[in-house]
Amino acid sequence: MNVLVIGSGGREHALAWKLGQSSRADKVFVAPGNAGTALDAENVPISAQDVAGLIKFAKENRVGLTVVGPEQPLVDGLVDQLQKAGLKVFGPSQSAAQMEGSKVFCKNLLRVAAVPSAEFQVFRDPESAARFVQERFPEPDQPTPLVVKADGLAAGKGVMVCRTRTQVMEAIDRIMRKREFGDAGKAIVLEERLDGEEASILAITDGKTIVTLPAAQDHKAAFDGDKGPNTGGMGAYCPAPLVDAAKMAWIEEHILVPTVHAMKRSRHPFRGVLYAGLMLTHQGPKVLEYNVRFGDPECQPLLMRLQSDLLDVLEATVDERLEELEPLRWDPRPAVCVVMASEGYPGPYDNGNTIRGLDDAAKLPDVKVFHAGTRRNASGDVLTNGGRVLGVTALGPNIAGAKLQAYSAVKCIRWPGAWCRKDISDKALASELAGRGANF
Ligand code: AMP
Ligand code: GLY
Repeated sequence: MNVLVIGSGGREHALAWKLGQSSRADKVFVAPGNAGTALDAENVPISAQDVAGLIKFAKENRVGLTVVGPEQPLVDGLVDQLQKAGLKVFGPSQSAAQMEGSKVFCKNLLRVAAVPSAEFQVFRDPESAARFVQERFPEPDQPTPLVVKADGLAAGKGVMVCRTRTQVMEAIDRIMRKREFGDAGKAIVLEERLDGEEASILAITDGKTIVTLPAAQDHKAAFDGDKGPNTGGMGAYCPAPLVDAAKMAWIEEHILVPTVHAMKRSRHPFRGVLYAGLMLTHQGPKVLEYNVRFGDPECQPLLMRLQSDLLDVLEATVDERLEELEPLRWDPRPAVCVVMASEGYPGPYDNGNTIRGLDDAAKLPDVKVFHAGTRRNASGDVLTNGGRVLGVTALGPNIAGAKLQAYSAVKCIRWPGAWCRKDISDKALASELAGRGANF
């Protein structure tokens, strides 16, 4: 079968690489892809917005399964459009993708489903939001532990975690009055700030059966020690020992199952990857947000460990026969993914720097360098072409070993201004030393 992956990031490289390992995959195409997907699959220069182009290509090349990677095309309804053209597609419908596309939709659904999450209020104009904050927190300098979230997609930037009332007011102003994120800021969710460790729990579901993947942890802040601005994710590891088997069972029962059921009941049945961003609070795990796709970079260490045939899994989801699937097999070794970024990211950065040392990194055992923001020029050099450039991923006998191997590979690779966090997976190391067991 021919397979088409839509997207151009590290997640899509990992998906294309893993799908290419299936004995049933003939050709794997990536639209539009990057310099890494060009090596493991075949790039086709069609963007995710070019729906007619994608349909034409998929039909002409007898694509048996299309996998949509990023959130924007899912929220825009690409899956519905491809399905209407008679194609088989992995990913949620536009109506189900509202779980990520609208924070108001997500919070209301969680409330109906009685899924643990932060207390919240929705506002559709800045004056009533500001009034609410002033009434609740009358002293201008009193601690104000609120989070302000733009309703719509904002490339991960529409969430502002605040400490003071001034910060909250500024956030309301930026999102609703200045409209920094455009129409995504027509409405906001104001919610209580939760404290704890974060974990990413991804589950594949056909709307009836839920297959939970091992827990992963992202590193959203730019700098070591979780300092600096938020990014798309500077690294991830899997499994995350802070979610042990008992906690995972609790999360399935109290979070994932009620969410999937509530979506079905409210006529937004979900098929695809449901990604719960959780805060592990003193009162138990609570949902920070849902995404409707594989996490990036969580997908990279997850798929590095997956031993089952990914094509079988994704196809069974689309055919609504996940129930018949054998339990997924995982490499028992943990995986760590370190993101190498361009100088200036998550702010402005330059593209076009030549990346050296990729071949040396690839020679190291148990290492895979997933490309994100890269492109190849006419003479075959690999150039930087984005903020997050590479996801250097390694397996190891334990988290410490996987971390060491990933950073050994990072040391082989260089371009002017390249940088990465040095502490990816250190939180897991602390748990590993404390002897907490990992699940799976
Ligand atoms: P979201 O896009 O909703 O996941 O938010 C992005 C990041 O903001 C999360 O990964 C958290 O680090 C943080 N965040 C979101 N909601 C809250 C909350 N209620 N309390 C504390 N931090 C939050
Ligand atoms: N790793 C965060 C995300 O994929 O949204």
